[in-house]
Amino acid sequence: MHDLLSITDLDKKGILSILSEAGKMERALSRGKPPSPLKGKIVANLFFEPSTRTNLSFQAAALRLGANALAFSSAGSSAAKGESFEDTVRMVDGYADCLVVRHPDAGSARAAAGIASHPVINAGDGGNQHPTQALTDLYTIMKLKGKIEGQSVTLMGDLKYARAMRSLLWGLSLFGADTTLVSPPQLRMDPGIVSEARKLGASIAEHEKPDLSACDVLYVCRIQKERFADPSEAKRMQGLFRVEPSVLCGAKKSMAILHPLPKVDEMPPAIDSDPRAKYFEQAKNGVPVRMAVLKRCILGK
Ligand code: NCD
Repeated sequence: MHDLLSITDLDKKGILSILSEAGKMERALSRGKPPSPLKGKIVANLFFEPSTRTNLSFQAAALRLGANALAFSSAGSSAAKGESFEDTVRMVDGYADCLVVRHPDAGSARAAAGIASHPVINAGDGGNQHPTQALTDLYTIMKLKGKIEGQSVTLMGDLKYARAMRSLLWGLSLFGADTTLVSPPQLRMDPGIVSEARKLGASIAEHEKPDLSACDVLYVCRIQKERFADPSEAKRMQGLFRVEPSVLCGAKKSMAILHPLPKVDEMPPAIDSDPRAKYFEQAKNGVPVRMAVLKRCILGK
């Protein structure tokens, strides 16, 4: 049994084995013959924050592997009556073989893992970590570009609060990508996170404006307005980075545009028809990647 709480819990070998298993899962899905190694198992999704992709792709992944999926959203549960997170985890641990947890507080998935006897998968804990999104992103880059090492990747947006960006920066650095972080100064990534990633030996630059002339992968995220102490501050930040078609002028034809989604103001709908936009494909990759993660966490292989 394995928990997956942070991308930093995995080494390169561990990530590669998940990505390779995800490739097998994707091929089995496209043949219409996914295996059923989780037949008879129950996966419970405990979501205390809104989610579309992560929640549904985990459910789809569980069902594709022959497991049953239980979904919980805090708004329609006893959490709304004041039940504690700890009690909810303890109880669902008695119903299921694996707990997929999303929560607004950093550290909540790790806290759940301390309570549950079954594996816990972090589906996003506050502004901290989103390991299965990072695995989906690495899988997507590997598929599109053949390798991660040496790719020039620009991460642009709210780097202060976006957990997807933090987890991805670690993964990119582990695999030797050249990363450029682009954000307004107020939304820079936590310097501690950047310096930990630099210790992996990767090149990480920080800029306020994008220069995409040498960029292989542009990865954008929205303002995480729900994490701002002052909502008016989030409003002020809006519009400071926006991928207008003009921003893409001079970018390579082969550049891939990724986004964890949901996209809001930072990515105008006009970009969807740009052949470089790969974010819907990226979202689809979330299913085979989460199949690989569920199999590993529940069966230990
Ligand atoms: C991300 C998240 O929840 O952190 N969404 C997702 O899981 N695909 C990104 C976001 O909400 O901006």
